[in-house]
Amino acid sequence: MPSEKFLEGIYYVQGRDFVDAGVVSSDIKRALKEKGIPESVIRRVAVITFEAEVNIISYADQGTIQLFVEPGAVTVEAVDIGQGIPDIELALQEGYSTADDSIREMGFGAGMGLANIRKYSDVFTLTSEPGNGTHLTSVVKLDGK
Ligand SMILES: Nc1ncnc2c1ncn2[C@@H]1O[C@H](COP(=O)(O)OP(=O)(O)O)[C@@H](O)[C@H]1O
Ligand SMILES: [Mg+2]
Repeated sequence: MPSEKFLEGIYYVQGRDFVDAGVVSSDIKRALKEKGIPESVIRRVAVITFEAEVNIISYADQGTIQLFVEPGAVTVEAVDIGQGIPDIELALQEGYSTADDSIREMGFGAGMGLANIRKYSDVFTLTSEPGNGTHLTSVVKLDGK
């Protein structure tokens, strides 16, 4: 049975592994370049995957980022196991962050990640079960904004 979505890759993200922050988003950028995806779409997907990756590293135990490519769209699905987000609306507010000093010292924790993911997505869904984990889906359309 062919899948409805076209899975391009599954990327593993380890919580607290700040040394590797950005590796997954770079890999995804390269994969999209090789597929001939337009540069403007790649730029948006790169922001989305980088912020999702850093959030898993910062706030979850572990997770995966799956990349789907269809003729009209690129979809990123980030699923993690971890503490989850108790108040999604609050987490989406620009500048809201629960990052501690150790995260801020590394240059993260400005509280813009989720807001920017939503801004760069044509379709955005974020759900979370506190104590279990978080599920983010972002679609960037090839003929989108
Ligand atoms: N995958 C996640 N698991 C648990 N909490 C998260 C996750 N992603 C984001 N959060 C929560 O949402 C807040 C806002 O996230 P974000 O907008 O990316 O800002 P920042 O990462 O700079 O704090 C985080 O501070 C954190 O409390
Ligand atoms: Mg963030």
